[in-house]
Amino acid sequence: MRTIYLDALKNKKHTHTPMWIMRQAGRYLPEYRYVRSKFQNFMTMCKNAQACCEVALQPLDRFDLDASIVFSDILTIPEAMGMKLEFIPGTGPVFDNPIQSDKQISLLDTKYAIDKLTYVYDAVSTTKQAIKNRVPLIGFCGSPWTLAAYMVEGHGSKQFTKLRQMMYAQPKMLQNLLDKLTQVTCIYLSEQIKSGADAIMIFDTWGGLLSHHTYQIFSLNYMQTITQFIKTHHPDTPVTLFTKGGGLWLDKIAQSGCDAAGIDWSISIKQARGFVNDSIALQGNLDPAALYGSDESIIQEVKAILSTQRDNHRYIFNLGHGVYPDINPDKVKVMVEAVREFGCKNQS
Ligand code: CP3
Repeated sequence: MRTIYLDALKNKKHTHTPMWIMRQAGRYLPEYRYVRSKFQNFMTMCKNAQACCEVALQPLDRFDLDASIVFSDILTIPEAMGMKLEFIPGTGPVFDNPIQSDKQISLLDTKYAIDKLTYVYDAVSTTKQAIKNRVPLIGFCGSPWTLAAYMVEGHGSKQFTKLRQMMYAQPKMLQNLLDKLTQVTCIYLSEQIKSGADAIMIFDTWGGLLSHHTYQIFSLNYMQTITQFIKTHHPDTPVTLFTKGGGLWLDKIAQSGCDAAGIDWSISIKQARGFVNDSIALQGNLDPAALYGSDESIIQEVKAILSTQRDNHRYIFNLGHGVYPDINPDKVKVMVEAVREFGCKNQS
């Protein structure tokens, strides 16, 4: 297996700058849209292990990448706990009956949810087998805070007002929900690892909505519990935490016990390094909108990032957030080739 992605996470010397792309499998690829068109809705596709495996492998066949990510979604957990989930084109995920009361939280199932997620573990093992040890496979979940954001609000939002109202007006209620999500997430990730995931990434997409101290209380503490659980039960499996908008909190993130932090493009990797030194690996952080630019400008942007990180073996190239659905795949190729050309190329 080409292990440079795991080497960066595990603090081992490697020969090339490792890279993968958040949302590397998805609508920007015509071959993904083709597979997706055979399914009436997104969750039906997620429940088909063969389809998940096929689309997870598509970006590896097109680009020279160093990791694959399981094809699924972060909202599998709330659905398995009993919430009705629909993905509406143009709107995104929508939950019926958003969480507004202790009663609703008490009705969320934690006992059988793990078994209802067997389709995800099947997707992991099917994909793991099909990759044939070319590259490692990343398993993932959403942070409890980010899952709660959708469950309380009912849908995506700029402000997530209901969620933040609950945080300040009924903090115990929200913490009760976060506890339940944490409990299920620990076992969920453990099952993904047992099914073949080589590394774990926790997506805290909405952590940046929090203040510096509520971030610790309502998001980081729960991610830390999950990280510690993985470290205890699967000590060889590295964990990456990605809080979008969390650049200024990297010192706290590094103290959680994680192996790496994802960073968005609001802070430079050099600045980020200042917070963590080499205690953890850093992953990021090209602005995904840079891929709308000319080939020359993409190359310049890639070079600018690599100029400070090329020789750091705890650096993993990625975008600062997922690739947008209307990006031309040829532009992704330009980026990938630029990373190979201008990244670290030590002889082994
Ligand atoms: O290669 C990969 O990374 C694919 C696997 C993956 C998906 N979602 C597939 C998907 C991963 C890692 C996710 C994570 C995810 N899902 C996050 C965290 C990362 C981030 O981008 O912030 C979040 C917040 C979600 C929730 C979600 N799922 C939203 C908001 C949406 C709709 C909006 C959108 O971006 O499309 C989804 C649907 C979804 N998840 C799609 C894909 C490929 C598109 C649905 C379709 O094809 O019909």
